[in-house]
Amino acid sequence: MRDSFFQPCTVANLQLPTRFVMSAMQDRRPEDLLPSTELAQHYADRIAGGIGLIVTQGTTMDHPTSVSPYARLYPPAYDAWRRCAETVRERGGQIAMQLWHESAMRPGGFSPSGLAFSGATTGEALSTTQIEELIEVYAASAARAKALGFSGVELHGGHGYLLGLFASGTSNKRTDEWGGDTVEARMRFPLAVTRAVRKAVGPDFPILYRISQPSPVTAPKIFRNPGELATNAGALVAAGVDMLDVLAPRFWEPEFEGEDLGLNAWLKRCTGAPVISGGSIGLSHDLMSVLTGGKAFSTAHEGFAELERRFDRGDFDLIALGRPILVDPEFLVKIRAGRFDALKQTYEKDDISSEARTARLAKARQAAPASG
Ligand SMILES: Cc1cc2nc3c(=O)[nH]c(=O)nc-3n(C[C@H](O)[C@H](O)[C@H](O)COP(=O)(O)O)c2cc1C
Repeated sequence: MRDSFFQPCTVANLQLPTRFVMSAMQDRRPEDLLPSTELAQHYADRIAGGIGLIVTQGTTMDHPTSVSPYARLYPPAYDAWRRCAETVRERGGQIAMQLWHESAMRPGGFSPSGLAFSGATTGEALSTTQIEELIEVYAASAARAKALGFSGVELHGGHGYLLGLFASGTSNKRTDEWGGDTVEARMRFPLAVTRAVRKAVGPDFPILYRISQPSPVTAPKIFRNPGELATNAGALVAAGVDMLDVLAPRFWEPEFEGEDLGLNAWLKRCTGAPVISGGSIGLSHDLMSVLTGGKAFSTAHEGFAELERRFDRGDFDLIALGRPILVDPEFLVKIRAGRFDALKQTYEKDDISSEARTARLAKARQAAPASG
């Protein structure tokens, strides 16, 4: 991989030691819904291995409708998160906290209209009061991340979580001010959240926004053409987003017919904002096959030339790695030295039984915050 990627740079107000980002990835064994005791060291090892910016796993916010079996961002989790931020920054890296609301991802979850991305009924529709509360909860969570020493926040607007569900016409059937026939109308909630977060963290604190289109088998595209993408991504940037983090299975796949441009390139061209791009860099197996126990990668060096070509073309600013860096903190060190044979090859599939997961979810429901 090209040496210049390993040089310091400043992007979206973040001074970074390299251009590599560790994508948000759940710690799959959280202890009591807290970040695990090893998490700070896990992140430190990735910084030592060449990552410049870490995006934490999605963290659960402090509202009764926001329930997940993963780590929370409310007491007693603050000390553990502060330790993660301090550890990463002491080692010269940056760390952004990802805020998510799992919404219809869980049976019984709260979503815009009680529907999942596919349109299937899975839970309850949020009331307008809950929607207004959630805007404030996002803002308070971002301010909390700043107070805990994080370098920025990332709003998870990607596939199937709350912000994305509002944006999609398949899952948002609301007829009030939070829904409508156009994507512009359905984006009112993500935009209100972004504006509230910006107000809460002040003008200089970086806000990242994770953005994706549904996979073709799940639901129709949210942004159906370059015009819709430009209008709505532009509105996010105008509302306070500093950097767009593209969630895509493969960084090279064209987004709209007729042009060799991925979602990364379209976003960069239509907003001018910095873009993080990842998805199967150094991998030959897609995410779902790996999560169900497939092999993580076999030919890591393939595709790097394509990555460099697209970077040189100006398609994106930062390069995100997920699974390779999860299994091998030295992935970049080995790649840089051309030691492809030394790369770790497999991703351990989640070893938590479904009973354990159900028990954890029940516990999360019980622990769901008192406030909100
Ligand atoms: C175990 C695991 C957990 C993940 N958790 C999150 C998450 O919390 N938030 C998020 O935005 N993406 C999450 N992702 C998606 C990754 O951030 C990344 O976009 C995806 O793995 C594709 O990148 P890759 O091909 O380099 O692995 C997760 C992926 C994995 C493998």
